Amino acid sequence: MKRPIAIIGGSGVKSILKGEQKVLGTPYGPTPNLTIGEVEGRPAIFLPRHGEAHSDPPHKVNYRANIWGLKSLGVERIIATNAVGAIDQSLTPGEIVIPSDIVDVTKSRAGTFYEGSPVTHVDVSQPYCPREREVLAQSTASAGRRSPKDAVMACTEGPRYETPAEIKMLRTMGCHIVGMTGAPEVFLARELEICYASISFVSNMAAGLQRTLSAREVEEKGRETSQVLNKILAGAIASMPESRKDCPCGTALSQAQLKKEVVEVAQ
Ligand code: HPA
Repeated sequence: MKRPIAIIGGSGVKSILKGEQKVLGTPYGPTPNLTIGEVEGRPAIFLPRHGEAHSDPPHKVNYRANIWGLKSLGVERIIATNAVGAIDQSLTPGEIVIPSDIVDVTKSRAGTFYEGSPVTHVDVSQPYCPREREVLAQSTASAGRRSPKDAVMACTEGPRYETPAEIKMLRTMGCHIVGMTGAPEVFLARELEICYASISFVSNMAAGLQRTLSAREVEEKGRETSQVLNKILAGAIASMPESRKDCPCGTALSQAQLKKEVVEVAQ
């Protein structure tokens, strides 16, 4: 039996699959209502990040329950979607971006599964699965859309949008796009050795680059982009390799925990 590929749907993204509905219990609380079915003949799961009625704001999403729940269903690959604002002025609303790196400037989120012993420091030198990024880029090109080769996402706390000064700061930090849901999701996936990549769509220019920002505009852009997004997701799922030989994700814990003897000597 092939392992299911999970899609985490962000703002404005509706399930591309039909199937059994299920809420899972986890040590961190329940997941949103998952849809368990198939995409392109492969087992797939859809998780609406903000809940079915979009009732959980970005800073209240139970990221640990979501990632833990997917892991407990045998998921080894996640493709996430996010609405983002463009900091890089060469990007325009409607564009697709596959982030290559992330700056986490969130403030109040539970960001790890490893709160105690064994002390665990996962490597995130490549925070997004390089193999999944490749597959997403190919699928984006096949859908007739370009995507920048590299893009750094900033993840802010929200739920408010940023100030123009914050966007200037994020630009000087090397960020190209800004959203509110990239972290800690990407890091939690790595902590459970799940491959994770993200497909972001630009819903607006970031603060200071357009007159005002509106949640309605973001939602509207999500609806407009959903057709191409679904096409890219379906194409990516169809061609996603089953095996995970050529990425660091599946063995992330092998070097992440201190050896027992080292801990004992150090105590
Ligand atoms: N900032 C943060 N999150 C976002 C934005 C933005 O401009 N647009 C969509 N999500």
